[in-house]
Amino acid sequence: MDKIHSLTGMLDHYDDGDIENISVKIFETEKRIKKVFTNYKYSEIRTPALEDTNLFVRSAGDASDIVNKEIYSFNDRNEKNIALRPEGTASAIRAIIEKKLDQTNHKLWYLGPMWRYERPQKGRYRQFYQAGVEILGYEEGAPEYEIISMVCSIIEEFKLKNCSIKINHLGDKESKKLFCDALVEYLEPFKDSLDEKDLTRLTKNPLRVLDSKNKETQSILKKAPSIREFIKPSALSLLENIQNEYKDICNIEIDYTLVRGLDYYSGFVFEAISSELGAQDSFLGGGRYDHLSLKLGGKNLPSIGMAIGVERFASLIKDIATSNKVVSFITLTSNLESKPYKIAHQLRSLNSNIILDLQLSEGSLKSKLRKANKNNSEYAIIIGEEELRDRTAVIKFLNDELKDQETVSIKELFSFYTSL
Ligand code: HAM
Repeated sequence: MDKIHSLTGMLDHYDDGDIENISVKIFETEKRIKKVFTNYKYSEIRTPALEDTNLFVRSAGDASDIVNKEIYSFNDRNEKNIALRPEGTASAIRAIIEKKLDQTNHKLWYLGPMWRYERPQKGRYRQFYQAGVEILGYEEGAPEYEIISMVCSIIEEFKLKNCSIKINHLGDKESKKLFCDALVEYLEPFKDSLDEKDLTRLTKNPLRVLDSKNKETQSILKKAPSIREFIKPSALSLLENIQNEYKDICNIEIDYTLVRGLDYYSGFVFEAISSELGAQDSFLGGGRYDHLSLKLGGKNLPSIGMAIGVERFASLIKDIATSNKVVSFITLTSNLESKPYKIAHQLRSLNSNIILDLQLSEGSLKSKLRKANKNNSEYAIIIGEEELRDRTAVIKFLNDELKDQETVSIKELFSFYTSL
């Protein structure tokens, strides 16, 4: 029979214990990012993968690529138009409004799959994971510092090199309007040189022209007015203060041409990029979106947030050695012999900080030790027929150049394991 394959741009991830494998890096990334979120005292929010398509049309905007050509939407059996979420912010706000919690402050995090019908390439998938946070109910100021501090903590946690955080300010309503008018006026004489996509952006959301990938547009933009001339002094000093405050921790650049791909942003915006990523170099993006709640029928809820692209982020991490020690438990007795498994159970209850990998497959000691090395085990505990009879175990020191192995009594094994 024909095999059934996964869909284009949608990957399977499987932890085979090999720390060089991208899936293993992804799982480790998720675990440690969640730890940073909870250490900052954010609360988890989990929303459905499917939503009313209008949620994304109203939030991301009908000029955005996400809504125009990337959304996975279809009619369900009841002819209702629904969509697989392309991002997490709109769903989080929808949920908070629906729970009537839009009059209070929240610090939220989420982690889950998102879907965008994009042309797959390295770092760009049709199903990908985002780990995000949303800070709701706070005006500009403290949340901007907090969110950049969190981005720096995440970069530090994984010791990422060769990355920088670009920041910009899109201004308040008034300065954004003045800048957009100036940009349109500047681009008018070049209309014939703009491609169809940039012409649409020019009429629907002129700021997005700044994000054009077209080389000709980019060279036209070189002499365009800069948003720097239009934003208020308070916005300029916010950018400068953030850059100065965190300069010893992270590489932060003010980039007055930075705009984001979704229409809901207002004010402070940012992206983290890495020179190691190639064309899809942004592994994290976010910003302030003060008007989204009102747009979705909720109360006035000034907010800011960001999302990390988990696959891109994971591809950057070099060292994923966990702080927890790994020990392999190897039996060389008949599979039906129950005693070793009871010993493994007792070891696990003695020290829950240790990851004990009980190797279930039958095989030679050599192949089992190879597996122990592959999963980064520091020790192997080996029990064969002889050890079982003598009530002993062999401890093999896998990372110790001076010590090879030792035969110990089960009691000694227990105290050794407790002391790890
Ligand atoms: P975004 O910039 O569209 O923002 O996506 C955030 C991150 O998701 C990107 O920086 C990238 O790393 C990753 N990403 C996006 N598309 C793909 C793809 N097709 N394949 C792999 N990774 C991808 C948002 O989604 C906003 N909701 C972020 C936010 C939260 N703003 C405020 N709160």
